[in-house]
Amino acid sequence: MTSIPNVNADVLQHAQQQMQQDLQTALEAFSLPEPLKSAVHHAVMLGGKRVRPALCYATASLKSEHLNFAAVRRAAVAVELIHCYSLVHDDLPCMDNDLLRRGQPTCHAAYGEDTALLAGDILQSMAFEILGSRLFDQGREVAAPVLLRQMQILATAASRMVCGQVLDLQAEGQHVDQTQLEDIHCNKTGALIQAAIMLAAVTVFEGTDPAIPQLRQFGQAIGLAFQVQDDILDVISDTQMLGKTAGRDQQLHKSTYPALMGLEQAKVYAQQLHDQAFQALAGFGEDAAALNQILRFLLSRQH
Ligand code: IPE
Ligand code: IPE
Ligand code: MG
Ligand code: MG
Ligand code: MG
Repeated sequence: MTSIPNVNADVLQHAQQQMQQDLQTALEAFSLPEPLKSAVHHAVMLGGKRVRPALCYATASLKSEHLNFAAVRRAAVAVELIHCYSLVHDDLPCMDNDLLRRGQPTCHAAYGEDTALLAGDILQSMAFEILGSRLFDQGREVAAPVLLRQMQILATAASRMVCGQVLDLQAEGQHVDQTQLEDIHCNKTGALIQAAIMLAAVTVFEGTDPAIPQLRQFGQAIGLAFQVQDDILDVISDTQMLGKTAGRDQQLHKSTYPALMGLEQAKVYAQQLHDQAFQALAGFGEDAAALNQILRFLLSRQH
């Protein structure tokens, strides 16, 4: 039995449990040849904080009385599949060349570069197939304009992620200023996080509802904050805690916030972005309890 996240329960824990179940169901809907099937399972099912799905559910819980929860669950699966694809490709030798992800060998380390590349490719199209499907439906249909809007939101975010990744690679060993770095981070990471929020927002709110621009603003702030925090954790955390190789950004001469402004200033900036995100939620009052809980987790996260 599924439910809308209870604001009194741990929102992230709920999202993780719901996602494990829904991702499993989603993957079972596809008939894939080996070793692709195992590589996809590896990339999707083994670990991950499921922050994007949690944001998706928590946004939907702002207006639970009009909730088409099946559409929100599909959106949560779709956004997580795009995220998993981005991680598989991010780790490839031609990109960040990483061997550890979510505490496991990276997809290419386990299955070879060819299969990992193709696993990433298929995860992307699977995301859109799921979004447009009737998976989890119990008779209630999504209005065609809402589905079209969801498709556009996810496609735009996935394209922005790729553009951000190109800029990230180009910026290795280069000096970039804060405006350029913000552009990289907002695209490679921020866009998909904002999309997780907007996918739910367009499902539960009318297009003209003032909640939509407020949530867009919230998504912008938290999306950038997430990558600033990722940069900080790469410096201050360890491989065991992160489940990925700590200190990798420095080894690769990545352009990051700690590299640009120093660690302490980067922490101050992360706090400022989280404050902006809290402010963007102020108008929702108690209804935003679940989103506020996720925000508090993100600011204090250790991995
Ligand atoms: C890591 O994302 C990559 C970035 C976009 C910063 P997450 O920190 O959400 O990774 P998982 O899903 O929990 O492994
Ligand atoms: C990843 O940024 C952004 C993606 C689109 C996957 P990073 O390269 O910093 O992510 P991690 O640190 O490897 O998870
Ligand atoms: Mg990278
Ligand atoms: Mg990386
Ligand atoms: Mg990183």
